[in-house]
Amino acid sequence: MCCTPSTLLLLSLASILSVCSSDAKNMLPSEVETIFKIMESISSDEKWRISYPNPCNPGSTWLGIECKLGQDNHLHVSRLDFGTHPNPTCKNTAAFPCEIFDLPHLQSVFFSQCFTHTKTTLSASPNRGGAFFDSSLQQLSLRSNPALVGPIPPQISFLKSLEILTLSQNRLSGRIPVEIFSLNSLVHLDLSYNMLTGPVPIQLGNLNNLQGLDLSYNSLTGPIPGTIGRLAEFGKLVKLQELRLSNSCYSGTIPPSFSLLVNLSTLSLQNNRLTGKIPEGFSSLSRIYHLNLSGNLLGGVIPFNASFLKRLGRNLDLSGNPGLCLSPSEAYNNVKSGSGVGVCGTGSLIKKSQAAAHGLSKLFFLFATLVFHVMHH
Ligand SMILES: *[C@@H]1O[C@H](CO)[C@@H](O)[C@H](O)[C@H]1NC(C)=O
Ligand SMILES: *[C@@H]1O[C@H](CO)[C@@H](O)[C@H](O)[C@H]1NC(C)=O
Ligand SMILES: *[C@@H]1O[C@H](CO)[C@@H](O)[C@H](O)[C@H]1NC(C)=O
Repeated sequence: MCCTPSTLLLLSLASILSVCSSDAKNMLPSEVETIFKIMESISSDEKWRISYPNPCNPGSTWLGIECKLGQDNHLHVSRLDFGTHPNPTCKNTAAFPCEIFDLPHLQSVFFSQCFTHTKTTLSASPNRGGAFFDSSLQQLSLRSNPALVGPIPPQISFLKSLEILTLSQNRLSGRIPVEIFSLNSLVHLDLSYNMLTGPVPIQLGNLNNLQGLDLSYNSLTGPIPGTIGRLAEFGKLVKLQELRLSNSCYSGTIPPSFSLLVNLSTLSLQNNRLTGKIPEGFSSLSRIYHLNLSGNLLGGVIPFNASFLKRLGRNLDLSGNPGLCLSPSEAYNNVKSGSGVGVCGTGSLIKKSQAAAHGLSKLFFLFATLVFHVMHH
């Protein structure tokens, strides 16, 4: 068959017309039905089907919903954003709408302060035999939902395209499912402020695209997996920039492999039960600017030299580790470092006024004061 210019024109006109008639006809009825079910789960407004039958109607798309024209020339829901202003708020009896996993074109989901009164769980869709659909979801953010309880289902590993997973400030409990660590497109993983228990699986080291990891404020136990930084069989999280594992119940030592995380800028390990020394290699983390190791049981001489202590300044917190101390040679130069640690062999805090009171030699005090003044003039 040969296309004359006029048939080409007709063909392109026809395709423009089919795009322009993008009302209910242009959304698959099954997808519209799924959206109605989601709205019934979360929204107090019950007139959606009658008053607003076309969720993606161009020019009057529902608030909280974004749509995109797919390659199949149908409009598809690409984003759901509910719970906080300016998006629609959720009703008191809002339940987690597992139907979101039936929307194959959905890319982003945000439910914040949405599940607040009636207990609900993060569940897979029954339409898929209990499995999450193999979706194109890239961002799943369920945050500040005090009524979102129960475990993180292992079926979350079906969401192969996930890049950002935020399940922070809910009441999720149980162990972190190992399956989560097969999501190796993940760039950010935030499970902070929940009630998660048990150890962190060593498979965490598989997430080699990870830039941010936050597991703070849970009840996680056992050692911190050395696979976070180890070279060799489990891969390493070389892209990691922010690592937050504070306020849990970790024990054991800080893995020396952390010093291989060359791009690390923030490390929060405060308020755990970590023992042993600060790994020597930490002083070579050239991008780090925030290091909080306070409230642990660490001991020994701090392996940081004067330039490291000066660079981090107030962003270094080593307080509340009774066994840690600073070598006197570094202390001279950091009379006001504020890291919250005493000088080895003196038991004193590095504060000018306290140094004398704690019986440091007069010579040391004079020398420290002198260096301090030289450095600040
Ligand atoms: C560290 O970060 C820089 C700049 O963002 C990037 O170019 C580099 O590839 C990163 N290094 C690793 C090992 O990912
Ligand atoms: C401090 O330690 C770092 C890392 O080990 C090193 O590169 C730097 O030269 C040291 N600075 C001084 C003044 O010793
Ligand atoms: C370190 O963590 C403690 C406890 O959460 C906090 O009070 C302190 O301000 C933090 N220090 C820095 C420098 O961030």
